[in-house]
Amino acid sequence: LRRFKTTVNTPKAPPAFAFAFDIDGVLLHGSTPLPGAKKTLDYLNHNKIEYLLLTNGGGLSEAHRVQELSRLLDVPLSTQQFVQSHTPFQRHASSIPRVLVVGGKKDNCRHVASGYGFKDVIIPADVIHTHPAASPFSEAGAYENIGRTLKGGEKVDAIMVYNDPRDWGSDLQVVVDVLLSKDGEIGTRRSTKEVLEQGHVPIYFSNPDLWWANEYSLPRLGQGGFRAALEGVWRAVTGGELKAETIGKPHTETYRYAEEVLMRWRKERTGDAEIKRVYMVGDNPASDIRGANGFTQGKAEWVSCLLRTGVFRDGEDDAGAHHIADNVANAVMWAVEREK
Ligand code: G3P
Ligand code: MG
Repeated sequence: LRRFKTTVNTPKAPPAFAFAFDIDGVLLHGSTPLPGAKKTLDYLNHNKIEYLLLTNGGGLSEAHRVQELSRLLDVPLSTQQFVQSHTPFQRHASSIPRVLVVGGKKDNCRHVASGYGFKDVIIPADVIHTHPAASPFSEAGAYENIGRTLKGGEKVDAIMVYNDPRDWGSDLQVVVDVLLSKDGEIGTRRSTKEVLEQGHVPIYFSNPDLWWANEYSLPRLGQGGFRAALEGVWRAVTGGELKAETIGKPHTETYRYAEEVLMRWRKERTGDAEIKRVYMVGDNPASDIRGANGFTQGKAEWVSCLLRTGVFRDGEDDAGAHHIADNVANAVMWAVEREK
């Protein structure tokens, strides 16, 4: 990092490159900043090199999450340089009258969805609070303060998994009940034959990550693990395959959305949106690297940098990363040198 001071003087014209940083395993382990994270972001801010935070994480509103990230990293951050897993779900708000939102801590994701404009938001805690026997193994009263009492007859128009479920058992139970129901009506059931013929309420996942990295010494199962569990239960219950839509890295929709946000952020800061190259710095080959390498239809060239501080381990498939670095500071130094 000391080399940074001599490497790049503050550029006259905005540099033609920018960064997209994954969060978990790159800047943070859980809520613990990784070494060099703050210094790296401070350096980029000082040298007016734009960057975006692009995470498959979520669970809070963009404003709340950015406030939390600024505090943890001790770096000023804006919601205009931030994309999290469920951010693109906003565009569905007007077309889904009632949504079952799954995942996250307590009822935080209910408030996130309402903030996006979803008019009627139900969470699994509402079903269990209203009918405790619906989830026989949940702790009695566990949903007392977060569940709302349902009137009965509510029909769910779509299921959206916003963040990693905390209680897979009860969330799986409620989601499977809605998928097997008549037109999404809570408390009803169709035959397997009808389900296979008619299909089910649409279900959206915001993050495909099978693994992610926190403070623990080994990667942890993520929302992709929950989806795999649901797919297994669905196969056992119906004999059919679950039809679901998943966004988040590595999906092109997420990278296209992220590039739009980054270009808008650059225009807002410098009046010039011309970014020729985006360096995607991530720890997960399956999401960060595959996504960046596969996003060839954007305005900028995306260059992938894989770090050794998260999910990836030397010797495993690196998904063809353009560069592999020990940490975020080294990755940025490599990119800056490359751009000289
Ligand atoms: O739930 C968070 C996890 O899936 C990883 O997030 O920041 O590494 O994309 P991130
Ligand atoms: Mg990560």
